[in-house]
Amino acid sequence: TKRFYPHSIGNVREGCVHFSFCLELMTPAGEHVNEKGIRFYNDLIDKLLDNKITPMVTLYHWDLPQVLQEKYGGWQNVSMVDYFNDFASLCFERFGDRVKHWMTFNNPWSVAVEGYETGEHAPGLKLKGTGAYRAAHHLIKAHAKVWHTYDMKWKSKQKGLVGISLTADWGEPVDTSNQEDIRAAERYFQFYLGWYAGPLFHGDYPQVMKEYIGRKSGQQGLGASRLPVFSAQEKTYIRGACDFLGLGHFTTRYITQKNYPSGLGDSYFVDRDLAELVDPKWPDPGSEWLYSVPWGFRRFLNYVKVQSYGNPMIYVTENGVPEKKYCTDLCDAWRMQYYKDYINEMLKAVRDGVNVKAYTAWSLLDSFEWDEGYSQRFGLFFVDFSSKNKPRYPKASVQFYKRIISSNGFPNQREMESWKRKAEEACFSSNQLLAADPLRGHKEMVSEIVVPTVCTLCVLLSAIFFMFLLRRRL
Ligand SMILES: *[C@@H]1O[C@H](CO)[C@@H](O)[C@H](O)[C@H]1NC(C)=O
Repeated sequence: TKRFYPHSIGNVREGCVHFSFCLELMTPAGEHVNEKGIRFYNDLIDKLLDNKITPMVTLYHWDLPQVLQEKYGGWQNVSMVDYFNDFASLCFERFGDRVKHWMTFNNPWSVAVEGYETGEHAPGLKLKGTGAYRAAHHLIKAHAKVWHTYDMKWKSKQKGLVGISLTADWGEPVDTSNQEDIRAAERYFQFYLGWYAGPLFHGDYPQVMKEYIGRKSGQQGLGASRLPVFSAQEKTYIRGACDFLGLGHFTTRYITQKNYPSGLGDSYFVDRDLAELVDPKWPDPGSEWLYSVPWGFRRFLNYVKVQSYGNPMIYVTENGVPEKKYCTDLCDAWRMQYYKDYINEMLKAVRDGVNVKAYTAWSLLDSFEWDEGYSQRFGLFFVDFSSKNKPRYPKASVQFYKRIISSNGFPNQREMESWKRKAEEACFSSNQLLAADPLRGHKEMVSEIVVPTVCTLCVLLSAIFFMFLLRRRL
């Protein structure tokens, strides 16, 4: 449960780094503060500021203390709102003099759907049709409470901002002249991003969610909708409780209308009445879910704006691409291409009038990637997890990305080509360095030769010892 690597780096002119707390900073009930953990992040924040890098901190990224899950049911229980608020208050108190950009949650969609509905991610619960909605309800309340705490207690002194980071793919109608598909794509967006942005910017869940989930709950003979309801007071409390909108975005789907027969069992996915498709021609550099569809990013950003969330300040908090499993090639041409295409489409969206204020790439280092563990590598830097000191090696994209951010965009085609060439030259030597790493070689030797040899010797020695014992008995 303890992950030490800050997740991601980024910029747009003034450099900034976005990271999440992974060390436990206090006991779940708040009676003890882990000063060692506080010191770790104090040092990290100070070092960033010394290097003119603005820290943007996520308070919660899939790291609920286990005891709160086991004893109280985690985000199924509304009492998490207060526990989370205590934790956030500690962070504001200890780090808020230097941290001015706070995100309460990163990807609450995934926390709710994959944690409490499909069970793919921790805590692995399969509460189909209710688990995700209830978890999300409490996540939204927790966010709002933390925003109000900051607003009341800290904002006048610390002058920072509190936002949230929502992750969503873009859903393009399969047939853009078919009203059913257009409406299905609209539902895809509302069930994904609107689910959270709706309450925070409009004060309630999107109308289409209330309608669909309500109707289906009725068909199942339930007395009330499976989608929880905010009271009038809660709506007022939640609306506007967000200083900026963080967005994580990686890929796109085609969406078509699909009626699920009733009796299929209730679930978040059945509630939406749609099917997701992909174009087999889209490049899929390394991951079965991540297709590179840059134009989807521009449409996504524009749609967020059109949804009249008041054209909020947008911080792109996650965008990037992994590589093939166990790949150790540092010449990551596909990543350079992905960044170039996606950042370019984002810049077009800025020209369209979308209020994008910052971009942070996902991610600085290879890190622990949900249920994929260390097998899926998103880093600009390769981390050798098999080696004791976890050495880091720059991939070609480091050089490339460095130039994009120091130019704050793309100067011209010729210069871009030369960036790419230089990056590729640099990665050849990194590749050699990685291959020649004595520690890595040593580690492999340990597992391939030393371990079996030691095991064989142990077995032999015990056999001799037993023979010796038997003889004495006889
Ligand atoms: C919710 O959490 C509280 C502790 O804050 C606990 O007393 C209560 O039993 C929990 N409810 C459920 C249903 O687990």
